[in-house]
Amino acid sequence: MSMAFRPTNVMEQGAVLGIESTAHTFSIGWVDQKGVPRRSVSSAVRPLEGGIHPREAADHHASVAGKLLEELHEGSEPIDEPIVAIAFSQGPGMAPCLRVGAMVSRALSSELGVPLIGVNHCVAHIEIGRRLCNVQDPVLLYVSGGNTQVIARLSGRYRVLGETLDIGIGNMLDKFARNQGIPFPGGPKIETLADAWTSNNPEADISDFELPYPVHGMDLAFSGIMTSAERLLSMGRPLEGVAWSIQEHAFAACIEVAERAMAHAGKANLLLGGGVACNARLREMADQMALERGGTAHAPPKQYCVDNGTMIALLGQRHLEYGETTPILSSAIIQELRTDETPLPWPIEAV
Ligand code: ATP
Ligand code: FE2
Repeated sequence: MSMAFRPTNVMEQGAVLGIESTAHTFSIGWVDQKGVPRRSVSSAVRPLEGGIHPREAADHHASVAGKLLEELHEGSEPIDEPIVAIAFSQGPGMAPCLRVGAMVSRALSSELGVPLIGVNHCVAHIEIGRRLCNVQDPVLLYVSGGNTQVIARLSGRYRVLGETLDIGIGNMLDKFARNQGIPFPGGPKIETLADAWTSNNPEADISDFELPYPVHGMDLAFSGIMTSAERLLSMGRPLEGVAWSIQEHAFAACIEVAERAMAHAGKANLLLGGGVACNARLREMADQMALERGGTAHAPPKQYCVDNGTMIALLGQRHLEYGETTPILSSAIIQELRTDETPLPWPIEAV
């Protein structure tokens, strides 16, 4: 990325298109010239059995890209401004999937004669939340399929203060669900099962469904929860109760690490992001913790928690505003791109 740290007034001139393709979802969205997040159109692979195969997901992305572009142009809220840049998820993610997004973006950028902007997918989850929830300097609890991180902005970057040592929390939920014959994504179905349990068993005792508590200092680990939950099932415990216990243990652990990060970093507010942030019980725990600390917790609307093109467009616009674009020769995907590898030219006050 070229590093000219000077704000331009590109935002006055038109829309930025964002292309997301890190994993299961291919999505194209846009922000308008005023920086308002607009529509995304998306298509996700939903394998009936087994996990997501990167190559198959990439084939899916390549096969839907053209149709989604048309839908964005001709749908209910067509882009009514000239497109001034194409942003895309440069990483992190599954390489074959990332390559499809990068290829489509290069083609569009060259066809339209507008700059290309490769962005950090994890940072995009944070920036869309800050914009939509209007929260300047939160600790972010980023909980998705592949990622579980507690993040705060310190010295011009988003620093990871705690993270999973094994699998992402969403992957754990999806994998547990899949082993019970529940198709991807398993997280929402586990939420439904847990809700059914709490409404039918308001007096349920969590010690009947004991699972490992996955906090390791400032880090987390989820694979042990999954193994132990499967053991509970094999001992005859009901699936709804086990689903409830998984949520209670896994979410409480995330909230505990987030709270410690807020105390260490001296930040009053919490922002949730990533697909698992759709979960109402997690949102409730976040609200309660923030309230007890005299702060507030926030989460963007669900369609902006899951992977979406609009968040990529928004982050692209932020970089563009500071003259940062990506020449074609630097536009290769970065599969292992980390949250703290991306310098943030915009000030903390810019939401
Ligand atoms: P990343 O690349 O950032 O890791 P991702 O590819 O996992 O993202 P997201 O769309 O951010 O994609 O998140 C998808 C995850 O969110 C899935 O694991 C899914 O089960 C989980 N999820 C979605 N809704 C809920 C819910 N209501 N409760 C729990 N988990 C949920
Ligand atoms: Fe994501």
